[in-house]
Parts: sequence; C-alpha cells; structure tokens
Amino acid sequence: KSEKPWGGRFEQATAASVEAFTESISYDKRLYRYDIEGSKAHAAMLAANKLLSQDELTSIVDGLSAIEARIEEGTFSFKSELEDIHMNIEHALIGAIGPAGAKLHSARSRNDQIALDLRLYLRDQCDRLMALLDDARRAFVVLARKYMGKVMPGYTHLQRAQPVLIAHHMMAYYEMFGRDKERIADCRKRINILPLGTAAMAGTGLPIDREMVAELLHFDAVTANSMDTSGDRDFAIEFVSCCTMIQLHLSRLSEELVIWSSQEFSFVQIADKFCTGSSIMPQKKNPDIPELIRGKSGRVVGSLMSLITLMKGLPLTYNRDLQEDKEPVFDAVDTVSASLAIMAEMLGNLEFNTERMEDATKTGFITATDLADYLVLHDVPFRDAHGIVGRAVASCIEKGCELTDLSLEEMREFSPIIDKTVFAVLSVEGSVNSRKSIGGTASLRVEEAVRTAEKHMGIG
Ligand code: ARG
Repeated sequence: KSEKPWGGRFEQATAASVEAFTESISYDKRLYRYDIEGSKAHAAMLAANKLLSQDELTSIVDGLSAIEARIEEGTFSFKSELEDIHMNIEHALIGAIGPAGAKLHSARSRNDQIALDLRLYLRDQCDRLMALLDDARRAFVVLARKYMGKVMPGYTHLQRAQPVLIAHHMMAYYEMFGRDKERIADCRKRINILPLGTAAMAGTGLPIDREMVAELLHFDAVTANSMDTSGDRDFAIEFVSCCTMIQLHLSRLSEELVIWSSQEFSFVQIADKFCTGSSIMPQKKNPDIPELIRGKSGRVVGSLMSLITLMKGLPLTYNRDLQEDKEPVFDAVDTVSASLAIMAEMLGNLEFNTERMEDATKTGFITATDLADYLVLHDVPFRDAHGIVGRAVASCIEKGCELTDLSLEEMREFSPIIDKTVFAVLSVEGSVNSRKSIGGTASLRVEEAVRTAEKHMGIG
C-alpha cells in the first residue's frame, strides 16, 4: 500500500529508485517561504468562503508559521519520499495540527501551487536584481564623475577609432544596465499575476475568491484561462532571458577589463584585493573576477536554452517536465546576482591609468574622421574628403609619422582648402568636444548625461 498523500489508488509502495528520480525537494525547498505565504492566503480565502472555520484557519496559520520557523532554524527535516516542498509542508502541517491541515488543499492543486510559488519567488528576485542593477549603475556614474574630462581611444573592431571621454565609455554601461532594469520591471508585470485558483487545470467548482487571494498576496490581477495558467512558464523564460541580457552586458564589460588590465593595454589597475595570483609564476596578478563573470555567462545562456527546450514540445496543460524549470531558474538567479554584486564592488576598486589612455589617443590617426569632417564643412563632398584623408594617412604611414606631424604645406598638398585652423581640429580635445550631437562624446554632452544620472541615482 502506498503511504503517499496521493496514494489512495495505488496497490504498491513507490520504488525507492522512483522516489529518488522524481523528487524535487532537494532544490525546491528554497521556495518554502513562498509556499507558506501562498498557503496562508489560500487558507484565509477558504475561511472567508466557509470552507474552513475560523478556528481551523487559526490553527493552519499558526501551524504554518511554526513550520517556517523550524525550516529557518534548520530543524525541519525534508523528506524526499514526500517529493516536493508542497507535500513536505502539508504533511508536516497535518502531523502538527491534524484534520484542519488536511483541509488546506481544498480547491488547490500542486499545479497552481507551484506556479504561485515560482511567481512569488521571481517577483522578489526582480526586485533584488533591480536593486543590484542600480548599485552597478551608481558605480559607473561615480567612475564617470571621477574621470570626467579624461580621454581614451574609442574602438571599433578593437582598432583605435575616435577619441572619447572615459566618462562617455562608463556611461555607455550605465545605459545598458538601465535597459536591463526596465526589462526586469516589465517582466515583473507579467510575473505578478495570480495563478492560484486554476486548480489542476480546469478551475474549481468550490466557492473560491481568486481576487481576494490576489489582493492578499499583492498581485495586480488574476490569470484569465486555467488551462493556459497551469502549463505556462513564459514568465520564467522571460525572466531568465532578462538575466541572460544582464550577464551578457557584464560579460562584455569583463572582456574589456581583461583587455584593459593586460600589460599591452595597461589602461586599468584592478585593486590587489580583487585579483588573484598564479601558483607557479610569482609575478602574476590575474583578473579572475571579470574572467569568471565572462565564463559564467555560459551558464546563464545555458539556463535559457534549457527552459526554452523544456517548453517547446509540451502539450497543454501541466506536465511533470515542468519540474525541470526550477534548477535553471535558480542557477540563473544565483549567477547573475553574484556577478552583478561583485562587479559593482570591483568597479569601486578600479584605477584608470589616464596618462596611458591619453597617450593611446596620440597615435593611430585617431582624428582622421575629424579632418574629413573639416573638409566637409569646407564644402568637400564626404566621399571625396574620405579619399583625401585616406591618402594623407597612407603618406603618413610611409613617412612613419602622425597627421599632426605634417606641416600646413604638406597638408595642403592633399587639399588646398586646408588652412591653419586645421590643427585645432586634429587635436584630441578638439575632436572630442566637436562631437556635440545628442548622445555624442563632447564634454558638455557627457557632463549633462552624468549630471542627469547623478540626480536620478541620488548621488552628490
Ligand atoms: N514538483 C512539481 C513541479 O515542480 C510540483 C507540481 C507537481 N504536480 C503534479 N501533478 N505532479 O512541477
């Protein structure tokens, strides 16, 4: 005979191998708080609809609180024979308070219960991630302010392209993580809809009040279709996809930090306490944190792939496959939040070698576009201007000099339109400050952007 909560129709006890294979308690126990919170709201609703007496409600709520306290102090024993967090808690409740506990599962199925737990959990995670994103964004604004006015090469194809302000580069990440925050906020709206009350998948004939539960648990609305709800994990996929984007941004930043901290670049110094050494090469100081963040992006992308693949062939409605959603979701949450937190901390421990960065803007014909624009302002068609400057660059390469090393006479050989005002245009500062278009790197634009961000983030 089966001892399971669902064992009535079973002649045999479940095989131990099956219990081991089907359990999820080893990882879904992390949802205990949400499971209990959801059960308390469900019980309150059952009592309001006469499916529980007031006394029964009180003993359920107290019983659940006692279980929560035991879980938190580590004295609750989770049993894999009881499969998951729902049955572990319900079983303990019935053991503690008797028949009232056995009434808790009225008008509810584990199918809507797990959807509820996951939504409550992810709603919290959205709030946590948004706060972590803000920490990182604040760190970028602080760096932008600290290095305001200092220049560096901007790159395309990792080749020196045009000079920019270090602050402009930092503010690029501020924007990226700002979009990530918006994405999470938007995703949260679709998470924050109550699934409970759809029961197994068809709804329930018992007198329930889904809106009351939604209000108790601070959901914005209740889901509209019970069949959709019981098999829906769009919200989890969307959440992990938001996580993927965050980790992607962190990974790009990490790549830059790895490159910048190389001896070849030497643009940045990561504080000793944020680096590690080599067990064989005594001179080494390695940028392991950005490397690991970059590496961990594989895990997050993997979690997204797992979830998408998990869902693609599932018929309506609930299928046990859905139990496999938890680990990728948890791993994505853990990876992204740990990466964001350490990145924000590390950003506060960076020193840019501003001299070295400025030096790097002095070679590589980094103001060639400015010369072309100068010609355009003198009415030379841009394509012709491009050709003229290209020839000037080629001749400099041959001579082994920079555009700024050419005399006015030499320049005029390429175009007689050029006069002595060209030298201001060719300077790095002139180049940066000429880029006043909205979103450009001119000091006044960047100052404006940093000031707006400081105000937004409550800095200074
Ligand atoms: N542990 C299950 C999950 O994560 C809970 C729902 C189980 N429902 C069921 N009918 N077996 O999906």
